[in-house]
Amino acid sequence: MIPMSLYEKLTEYCASDAYPFHMPGHKRRGACMQDPFTFDITEIDGFDNLHHAEGILKDAQERAAALYHSSETHFLVNGSTAGILSAILACVPPGGLLLMVRNSHKSAFHAAGLRDIRTQYLYPEAGLIPQHAGAGAGYPADLNGPIDPSCVEQVLSSGAPRPSAIFLTSPTYDGVVSDVKAIAALAHRYRIPLIVDEAHGAHFGMHPAFPPSSVSQGADIVIHSLHKTLPSLTQTALLHVNGDLVDRRQLRSQLSVFQTSSPSYVLMASIDSCVQQMASQGRELFESYVRILKQFRTRAHFAHIDLPETDDPSRILLVPYHISARTLYDLLRDRYRLQSEMLAPSYVLMLSSVADTEDGFCRLLHALEEIDRIPPQADPIQIPEGGARSGQISESGALRRTHTDRPIVRAPIFQALNAQSEKVPFEDAAGKVSAEYLYLYPPGIPLLAPGEEITPALLRSKEELWSAGYELQGTEDHTLTSIWIMKEDTLS
Ligand SMILES: Cc1ncc(COP(=O)(O)O)c(C=O)c1O
Repeated sequence: MIPMSLYEKLTEYCASDAYPFHMPGHKRRGACMQDPFTFDITEIDGFDNLHHAEGILKDAQERAAALYHSSETHFLVNGSTAGILSAILACVPPGGLLLMVRNSHKSAFHAAGLRDIRTQYLYPEAGLIPQHAGAGAGYPADLNGPIDPSCVEQVLSSGAPRPSAIFLTSPTYDGVVSDVKAIAALAHRYRIPLIVDEAHGAHFGMHPAFPPSSVSQGADIVIHSLHKTLPSLTQTALLHVNGDLVDRRQLRSQLSVFQTSSPSYVLMASIDSCVQQMASQGRELFESYVRILKQFRTRAHFAHIDLPETDDPSRILLVPYHISARTLYDLLRDRYRLQSEMLAPSYVLMLSSVADTEDGFCRLLHALEEIDRIPPQADPIQIPEGGARSGQISESGALRRTHTDRPIVRAPIFQALNAQSEKVPFEDAAGKVSAEYLYLYPPGIPLLAPGEEITPALLRSKEELWSAGYELQGTEDHTLTSIWIMKEDTLS
């Protein structure tokens, strides 16, 4: 039998009634695009060049800058990833120090691995302060909280070497926002640029129901994945710059390293259309979306499933008590044809956007009402005493995905990636120094980074996550039976 091609599989899937509570934010309902082949061109006369924009692309980037109130905005066709790599390498010289949140996306770690950049970490608060919680709303214990500005102050005033830049992720994948304004003010007191990975917040500032954008909170560089939360094609993103702390020539030079020399006009047209749509119809679109979201939340009260709200109401967290999060995730997909974005040990994350329909939310509500009535004993995954939530985190705490624990850093990432290494069985790796990453995907935040010691707790986590069927990536050996470690004599 001839295997199905990717195109055939996509055609079949997209013709089905599967509903996307996941990225991209256009929810497969783009209105402005015809057959992409008809307008897929290269840098022909009259169409400018992204790497030296002087004409139509310059105008389009200026429209994006006007929408977000930045002084300079760059189109990214390789996602926020390209923006994060460029921003860090533009701000941190070889041998420099980057003060970054430990729960950063892997691309920030990759930047530190490309150049001899040392990293110092800021750790998120444990759990979430339930400022938006209704009575009884349960917060999953495996959720990273915000960064406390006083931790930043402590580092900056400690007299330790001065970082060349601060890198913050706000919001997190789950919609947890840090006090960017306070952190930017602290950074600026020391003339240090603040880079904010706002990949999940391109819709911030578009309506009062959502937090303000970090661009308006004083950040020097802000990176947005348009494709995650707004109606724009996958890979489309923006990088905004403000203030005088960033060397813009360096930034442009790094962008030309990390962006393809053949940027897709289909993607760039998608960015420009999205920006124009938000500028001209954003208010009505968001009014209607916020109304649907409110209706949904007013009706979504269940005996056994909590929907705690984080700072970003577009994120729908489902925390079940009577069945496992995995069973909830599977039921939504298999029985109700609702595809979620992410499965965490104790909750399911669904992403909504301005392109969602009332019908999509009605389907979700109906599915949750029915699932809420399932007797706990019907769950094929055994729920430990004490309830699903506590059980899924596991008594040892090893299933936690939070990044509040401090890793033992024995070597900088760059050194660990470039030193002589050897492969050892994973179970013999305790006490050794990793030469590889290990992360859950999504969200792509390293549980282990090169240069960090492999602890017994990490080994337990890996074992529990692996046997619970979570997607662990980063190591060369996908079966996770072995791992590359730094040779002992390369450690100083
Ligand atoms: C917090 C965060 N930053 C950056 C990225 C990278 O974004 P992109 O996929 O647009 O490259 C992701 C991807 O999921 C992310 O979750």
